[in-house]
Amino acid sequence: MFGLFKGKDQIAEAKIFFGSTEATTEELDERRSPFDNTVVSKAPKCNAEDTIKALKIAQEAAKEAKKIPLSQRILWLEDVAKKLQESREDFAMMLAKEVAKPIAFARVEVDRCMETVKITAMELANLHGETLPTDLMPSGKQTTAFFRREPVGVVACITPFNFPLNLVAHKIAPALGAGNAVVLKPTPEAPMTAYMFAKLFVESEYAVKDALSVVYGDVEVGSTLVKSDIPRVLSFTGSVPVGKIITQQAGIKKISLELGGNAATYIDSSADINYAAQRCAYGAFYNSGQVCISLQRIYVNEEVYEAFSDAMAIETKKLKVGSPYEEDTFIGPMINEESVHRAKSWVASAKNEGARVVAGGDEIEGIFPPTVMADVTDEMKIVCEEVFAPIVSLVSVPNYDVAIEKMNDSPYGLQFSIFTNDLKRTQKFIDDAQCGGVVINDIPTLRFDVQPYGGSKFSGVGREGPKWALEEFTEVKSVVIC
Ligand code: SIN
Repeated sequence: MFGLFKGKDQIAEAKIFFGSTEATTEELDERRSPFDNTVVSKAPKCNAEDTIKALKIAQEAAKEAKKIPLSQRILWLEDVAKKLQESREDFAMMLAKEVAKPIAFARVEVDRCMETVKITAMELANLHGETLPTDLMPSGKQTTAFFRREPVGVVACITPFNFPLNLVAHKIAPALGAGNAVVLKPTPEAPMTAYMFAKLFVESEYAVKDALSVVYGDVEVGSTLVKSDIPRVLSFTGSVPVGKIITQQAGIKKISLELGGNAATYIDSSADINYAAQRCAYGAFYNSGQVCISLQRIYVNEEVYEAFSDAMAIETKKLKVGSPYEEDTFIGPMINEESVHRAKSWVASAKNEGARVVAGGDEIEGIFPPTVMADVTDEMKIVCEEVFAPIVSLVSVPNYDVAIEKMNDSPYGLQFSIFTNDLKRTQKFIDDAQCGGVVINDIPTLRFDVQPYGGSKFSGVGREGPKWALEEFTEVKSVVIC
């Protein structure tokens, strides 16, 4: 439907959406491919004034959006999902261009996004209140009471670079579906991906007029959204430092924060070592480790440590590093030079402190490769801070109790996992893990978009996943009829 992307060499230009009206600015920001540094897209450079204009349009649109029947909002989301399917290849190519996501995984993200929108449409049918037994109290004998869910009004959404399509869907589909108006600030790294997706919403025959605005930029746009009193909910996915600033600046509004993680797994001596190693290589290196639930720490029972470490090296070396445009590439370049520099310096300091490189370590054609580090100790940066790079650490532990203590000894608590064939240990792990989600016999990097997703501790506040996001973006109105 876009007809903009006949080849990977074409430059596409995003537009602002001030509600349903497209606009641009005199100055455009260029987006360069992290793979070959060519310009792949351009986006309007928005400022505080543009952001306030978008917020005011949303404020007006919200008054109408709440009156649109649920049936139309469901048709709207279904229509977006259908059009996304029809443009699957255009979206996948744009992800490969803007964020260097390997094309096979870019298609996976488009497919996930479709599911997210479809599931949201389905969940909308369950977004209702219930009657309450006021006659539990003698004074309530002759009353009828119930609650219902109402849209909050305006929702502001700020989204990250690592899943620049599906994480936009996780916010705007439930926010709009619930009957709100939205102002979206997508990541500056993938403006065109966000524009293309927003266009599906705005141009749908079922669209709610002016309900979605999109502004591009960095701190000025973001902080204007955060500080404004117009949005009643601010939904942010990004780093802990930015999350902390948002918490200080947001004033009186609901905030939903999906922040970092430091995902870990335990390899029990009863586990299938080859299967665990194959899955761990996937979970540590998928999307170049730039995933909040990327597997970063592997605690291995000392009885199987050597065998697991050898299997991990074998599995890691199988992964193809290279161009995001090639079908069999598993790992492409990281998002920018700064990230590569950080990854290299953390590996270098771990080596200085006694860690050993089991696989990877050195750049391949300018790309930071999947890297396995062994003999890692607890205080090394690669294990105790969020690495957000294709680096995984192996730590030998004498037993489960030590492993779970180390896993929990982190400011983060997003997702953990365990590989074991011991049912009692599984049950204990579910109880012990201090995090938002656990996975048994697979990687903590597993996320089904239908699930609740979010963390404990510094990993965030609130949950995404269509059912939970619909609750975040609505508020309860209590009604009593006397
Ligand atoms: C994230 O990095 O938080 C998103 C992970 C995913 O959706 O797979």
